[in-house]
Formats: sequence, structure tokens, C-alpha cells
Amino acid sequence: MRVGMLTGGGDCPGLNAVIRAAVRKGVQDYDYDFIGYRDGWRGLIQGITVPLGIPAVRGILPRGGTILGSSRTNPFKTADGVRRIQENLAEDDVDALIAIGGEDTLGVAARLHADHGVRCVGVPKTIDNDLSATDYTFGFDTAVNIATEAIDRLHTTAESHMRVLVVEVMGRHAGWIALHSGLAGGANVILVPEQRFDLDEVCGWVTSRFRASYAPIVVVAEGAMPEDGDLVLKGAAAHDSFGHVRLSGVGEWLAKEIEARTGKEARTIVLGHVQRGGTPSAFDRWLATRFGLHAIDAVRDGDFGRMVALRGTDIVRVPLTDATARLKTVPGPLYAEARTFFG
Ligand code: F6P
Repeated sequence: MRVGMLTGGGDCPGLNAVIRAAVRKGVQDYDYDFIGYRDGWRGLIQGITVPLGIPAVRGILPRGGTILGSSRTNPFKTADGVRRIQENLAEDDVDALIAIGGEDTLGVAARLHADHGVRCVGVPKTIDNDLSATDYTFGFDTAVNIATEAIDRLHTTAESHMRVLVVEVMGRHAGWIALHSGLAGGANVILVPEQRFDLDEVCGWVTSRFRASYAPIVVVAEGAMPEDGDLVLKGAAAHDSFGHVRLSGVGEWLAKEIEARTGKEARTIVLGHVQRGGTPSAFDRWLATRFGLHAIDAVRDGDFGRMVALRGTDIVRVPLTDATARLKTVPGPLYAEARTFFG
């Protein structure tokens, strides 16, 4: 049995832990061979491979990023993409493919399996934690820890200068990073894509925080939108290769608006890719390792068209199509809990 592996979409801490676990168990317990495809679907389309065996995965558990590289290439938007994938898999004698990715990568894997007979197993990753079929994705915990540490540090400098600090975090459609880090870091305002915000209300919270002689920290997810507006971007909309609009800009816009409306100095900190880089947290290493072990077991069982997922403390298998059927967004009542601390 020869197993192909690829990592697609935005990288996230824990990808290497999945690769290591699947290879270790596959080689040691099942005597499988592995082949890596470079840069997600692009490597599989172009036939760019990376040798993958136990020596290649030694020492990678705590390393961020992915030893296989990643891209947002979409085979269904690439000329002859699907045909070239089928040809390369046949040429490389690959019997099964483990695709590690988020909504986009897993959506492609689901279609390749359902419509083109590619024997895929999916592993969910994304710092955004917005896949509904799993309780958590790895990468999220690390991103939340990074954002929380930043907020902790920003409190003291904000208070020294009595300024407003607006912290922009990632989160395209879902505000999980903003909510968890904002709550853990004691932010005074948390804005998420799921709930449009009222600028006057935000300024009210900022002002009341100053009245209590503290400086406000506003945490905003990059996909958050004002009540009467649309996505706020830095300039003209640019798109990534999967077709998504590149986000970021709402933090800067918000700081300007707050400053103009309250008369208080406001600055912006965009955490950006710092949230995705570096070593995974212990939780993410644990989750990613278990996902890798269970993904190779799914291959052994011939259970294709499935994705491994966390349910409580168990790893289960769900149809790949469930992974992308619905985004997991922040429910209204959960967001409402955080409002106790606004202002
Ligand atoms: O993977 C999802 C995500 O983390 C989004 O929150 C963010 O908008 C996007 O990645 C940015 O990714 P990139 O800079 O790689 O295009």
C-alpha cells in the first residue's frame, strides 16, 4: 500500500504532527510506503513529490508550518487539474490519499472522492475553528494563546498612555479566535463576523472604560462588519488563488473612527500571520497526533470519503461532505455571554 499526503490552504501549527503520526503508524504497524505532494493540490497536479518516510518525520512534532508546503490551488479551477491528479496518482502507484486542510481543501477531496473515485481521507485543520463536523480543529488553540498573550501585553501599554488599542485577529466568517482570546485576555469590546456592530455602541463602551480610568482594548475579527456597511478592506479587493477576498483593514478603519468620534487616541495592532506561525501548543500537538493516527487507520480500513473529527474526547469518522456542508460560527447566546465584560 502506498499512501500520498498533502497539506492545503493556510498553514497552521500542528500540520507536521499529523504527518509524523500517520507516517509513524503507517510504516511501523502496517508496513505502508508514503509519498508527499508539495504545496497542496498544486504538487499533485504538477507531479511534484517529496520523499516521506520515518527519517523525514523525525523531529518535526514541535515545528510550525508544514514540511510539505501549502497553497490554495483549486484543481477544479485549473486546466486539466482533475485529469492530471488522476494520472499522477496512477503513475506514483498511490492507493490512498490523506488530504489535510480546511473547508477548501476538504471540499476538493470530497468532490474528488465522490465524482472521480479518488480514495481520500480528510484531516481537518484551520486556526479559524470553523468546521462544523469537528468540535475543534488543531491550530486554533495555538492561535488563541498567541492572541491572548498579545492582549495581555497590550493592556499595560494601553494604560500607560491611556489610548485605545484595537487588536485585529484572523477569522473570515467565524469569530472564534476573537471571542476566545478576547474573553481570556479581558478585552473591553469583542467584534465578530457573525454579529454586525454599531459604531456608536462601540464608542460608548470605549468611553465608559476611560471613565473607569482604564484604557480599552478592542478585539476585532478581520471579517467583522459595521451595521450599515460591508467588509472593510485596506484598498481594492485582492483575491487569493482559491478565489477568496484577502481580508484585513477593519482594525485600522475602526481605530480611525473611534478616534474621530471619541477624541481619544486609538492605534491598531494587526496580529496577522503571527497567529499561524511557530510551534503548536500542547493541545494542538495532542489533537493533531491523534488525527494522524486515526487517519491512517481509516486508510487501513478502506474507509474512504471520510474525515477524522473530534467529538468530546473521541476521534470519530464523518463523511467528508459533512466537513464542508456548514460553517461552524459563533452562536448568538455564546457571544452574548461575553457582553458582560464590554465597556
Ligand atoms: O485559513 C484561514 C485564515 O486563517 C483566515 O482567517 C484568513 O483570512 C486567511 O487564512 C489568510 O490567509 P492567507 O494570508 O494565507 O491568504
